[in-house]
Amino acid sequence: MVQHFIVIGNPIAHSKSPAIHQAFAKQVGLDIAYARQFCPDDADSFRAVVDAFFHGGGVGANVTVPFKQVAYAMCAENGELSLHAQGAGAVNTLTLRNVKLYGDNTDRQGLVNHLQQLGWQLDGKKVAIIGAGGASRGVLLPLAEAGVAEMTIANRTVSKADELAQAIQPVLPATASMSSCGIDQLTGQFDLIINATSIGLTGEALPLSEALSTAHAYDMMYGRALPFLQHFAEQGASVSDGFGMLVGQASLSFESWTGNAVDTTHAMHDLQSSLYIITFLYFLSIKS
Ligand code: ATR
Repeated sequence: MVQHFIVIGNPIAHSKSPAIHQAFAKQVGLDIAYARQFCPDDADSFRAVVDAFFHGGGVGANVTVPFKQVAYAMCAENGELSLHAQGAGAVNTLTLRNVKLYGDNTDRQGLVNHLQQLGWQLDGKKVAIIGAGGASRGVLLPLAEAGVAEMTIANRTVSKADELAQAIQPVLPATASMSSCGIDQLTGQFDLIINATSIGLTGEALPLSEALSTAHAYDMMYGRALPFLQHFAEQGASVSDGFGMLVGQASLSFESWTGNAVDTTHAMHDLQSSLYIITFLYFLSIKS
C-alpha cells in the first residue's frame, strides 16, 4: 500500500524534500507518495492543513519555514513532543502516535552530522549563528554539545537574539559561552558562521560588516545562488549550502516514520547527479 507524506511550508515550490524521500524509498524498496503542501502564513490555516492530512490517512509531515514554532505549539497543546523538539522549541517532523499528534525535531542532528561529514571541526571553536528563529534555536544546543566554545547569535531584531541567548544559556554545557548582537555589529574572525535566517528565500543580502571574516561559512538554505555564501567564498572561506543537512534531517524523519535506516552518502550522490541533470536540461530548454 502506498504511504502518503507531505512537506508544509510557505514558500514551498522550491523544496527538494519529495526527491530526497523518493530516493530513500527507492533505496529500501518502499512505495511512497511525498507532496509539497503550500499553506497560507497563519496558524489557523496550518492547523487545518495538518488536521486534514492526518484525517485523510497521511503517515508523516515535514514542517518548514515559517511553521516550525506553530507545529511545536500544536503538539504542546494537543499532542506530544520528543525531547529533541522540546530542546529546540520547534518541530520539523509530525506523525500520529496513539491517535495523538507527535512532534519531533531532526534539524539538530542534521546540521552537526553534515558539518562533521565536511570535516569542519567544532570542538573548541568560535561560531556565529545569524538568525534567531526556529532554525537557529534548533541548532544551538547540538553545536554546544559538539564542543563549540564561543557562540554569538546575531539577528536583525536584536531583542530576539538577546532573548534566545538568555533562554538557551541555562542548558548550555559550562564550557560554552554565549553572546548576542545585531547582524551589522557582528565583527572579528570566526571559525564558522552559519546563516540560519530565511533571507536566502528572497535572494537579498545580509548587512554584513566589512570587519567580519571566517574560515567556514554555512547557509542552512539550499538550491539557489546564496549571496551569503558568495560573500565569504570571495574572501577565501570554504562554504556549503544546507543540502547535506536537509538530507541528514530527512533521513531521520524517514527512519522514524517507516522504521527503515538509509545510507545518506549514497542518496546524496544519486540526488546531486539528478539535480545536475535537471539543471542541464533547464539550460538546454532556455537556450532553444
Ligand atoms: P525559521 O523557523 O526558519 O527560523 P523564523 O522563525 O520565521 O523562521 O525566523 C526567520 C529568521 O530569519 C529570523 O531571525 C528573521 O529575523 P527577525 O527576527 O529580525 O525577523 C530572519 N530574517 C528573515 N528575513 C530577513 C531579512 N530580510 N534580513 C535579515 N534577517 C531576516
